[in-house]
Amino acid sequence: MDVEILDKKFEEIVDDVVIIGIFKNGKIKEELGKVDEFLDGAVKDAFMKEFKGERHKILEMPTYGRMKCNKIIIIGLGQKKKFTLDRIRQAIGKGCTYAMKKSGKKITIITNSFQLEKTNFGDIVQAVVEGAILSTYKFRRFKSKKEDNELKKLSIFMRSRKNFLEGEKGAINGKIIANSVNYVRNLANSPGNEATPEMLAKEAQKLTAKNVSCQILEEKDINEMGAFLGVAKGSSQPPKFIILDYKPQKFQNTVVLVGKAITFDSGGISIKPSSKMDRMKYDKAGGVAILGVIHAASKLKLHQRLIGLVPATENLSGGSAFKPGDILKSASGKTIEIINTDAEGRLILADALTHAANYKPKLIIDIATLTGACVIALGNAASGLFGNNKKLNDSLKKAGEITGERVWELPLWEDYEEQIESDIADIKNVGGHEGGAITAAYFLSKFVGKSPWAHIDIAGTAWNEKQKPYGPKGATGTGVRLLIEFLRRLK
Ligand code: BES
Ligand code: MN
Ligand code: ZN
Repeated sequence: MDVEILDKKFEEIVDDVVIIGIFKNGKIKEELGKVDEFLDGAVKDAFMKEFKGERHKILEMPTYGRMKCNKIIIIGLGQKKKFTLDRIRQAIGKGCTYAMKKSGKKITIITNSFQLEKTNFGDIVQAVVEGAILSTYKFRRFKSKKEDNELKKLSIFMRSRKNFLEGEKGAINGKIIANSVNYVRNLANSPGNEATPEMLAKEAQKLTAKNVSCQILEEKDINEMGAFLGVAKGSSQPPKFIILDYKPQKFQNTVVLVGKAITFDSGGISIKPSSKMDRMKYDKAGGVAILGVIHAASKLKLHQRLIGLVPATENLSGGSAFKPGDILKSASGKTIEIINTDAEGRLILADALTHAANYKPKLIIDIATLTGACVIALGNAASGLFGNNKKLNDSLKKAGEITGERVWELPLWEDYEEQIESDIADIKNVGGHEGGAITAAYFLSKFVGKSPWAHIDIAGTAWNEKQKPYGPKGATGTGVRLLIEFLRRLK
C-alpha cells in the first residue's frame, strides 16, 4: 500500500472519506470546526444528541456537496488521559474498516486530530499509518472471485508546517513497518501445501539486497543438528536452515534473531487431535516474522547487524519419523530423550540457538509458537517472555508497551529444572503439564550458553480467531513491530 502525504488545504481534500478523531467531550474546533461550518452546525447538533466522542463510536457525516470530499467519519477516541499510541492504531483501524465497508476506499486521515502529549509527531503519524495499512489487510489470494475491496488510496493530512518533516518521516517508517507485517501475515496465512520449507527458503532469498545476504543450509550441510533433523525425518519435504544476514555499513551490535518455522505441525507420531489441526499451518509464524524483521530493518536502515536464523521443516508422521522414546543428539552435543514428538519446536530451536551462540552476539532473541500452555496462561492479550537477562527483558517489555505487541514475563527459576531431567539422556523434551510454557523455555535456556537471551512465545498472539481493531481474522504478523521497536531503541 502506498501512502501520499497531502500538501494542500483541508478544504481541498477530494477523497471519498476523511477521518477525524475527537476525544470524549472534546471541543469541536480546528478541522472538525470547519466541517461543522460547512454543514451548518450538523456536527454540533449530533454532539448535543447521540455522539460525545465515546471510544470507537463512529459518527458518519455525508457532505452533500458542501465539501469536496464525500463523507466525514468522526471517530470517538475516548478519554484523553487514557490515550496511547496503540489507541491511535485501534481508532484508525476502527475508522478505516468502517469506511471500507460503508463509505469508500480512498481515505484521508487528519493526523493532527490524534493528539498525544509528550510524544513526537513522527511517532503519532507512524501509528496512524500503521493502523490504516494493518486494518485494511485482506488475505484473498485463494479466492477465485476477484473482489474490488482493497484500500485504493491512503492520504495523510498534517496541518502544521512546523513538524511536517517529522510527520513525513513517521509516515514513511509506518508504511515500511506495516507493509512488512502484512508480508509476514501473507506468509503465515499461506497453507502448508504451498508454504513448504523450500518455499520459505525461496522467499528468504528474495530478500537479498545491498546489505542483506541469504544462505540456505541443506540437510547435508548440517549433519550435526540431530534435533532439527530428527523432527524433519517424518516429512518428505526437505528441511531448510535459512540464514539471513543484514549488515549495514556501520553497526553498533550484532544481534541474532531465531524463529521457529514448522510449516505444518501435525504433532508427528504423538499426533494432535484433528479439531483445529488446520490452524497448525501458522506454526511457522515465528520464522516468517524474522523474514519480516530483516526486510523492515534493511528498508529502515537500522544500525544493528542482524543475523536471522530460521530452521524450517514440517512435523509429520511418515515412515521414517522420529518416535517417542528415541534419543537425538543435538548440535550442542547434548542428548535429548523424546517423550512427545509434538514438542518439536524446542528441538529445532535447540540446534538453531546453539548455532546462534557460535556468533558470540551481543544478544539472542528467539520467537516461536511454542506451547499451548502459554495460551492457557496469557490468552491472546500478550506473548510469553522468558530470558536470562533483566535489561534485555525490560527493553522488550518497553517495546511491547509502545507497539501494543505486549509481552508478559514468566520465571525461569531452577525449581523447574527437575521436570526436564531424563533418566537415560542429558535432557528430555517434555516436562509435564505443570508450567508447560516455562519448562519449554527452560529447555531452550540449556542451549544458549552464556549469551544474553530472550524467548518470546507467540502461540497465543500469532493468530486472531476474531477480528481485532487493526487485525483481521487469521495471522497477526506479531513480532515484527515489537522487534523493530526494540532494535531501534537498542544502544
Ligand atoms: N505448535 C505447538 C504449540 C501451539 C499450540 C501453537 C497451540 C499454537 C497454538 C507446539 O509444537 C506443541 O505442539 N506443543 C505442545 C507441547 C506438549 C506436547 C508438551 C503443546 O503445547 O501441547
Ligand atoms: Mn507441536
Ligand atoms: Zn509446533
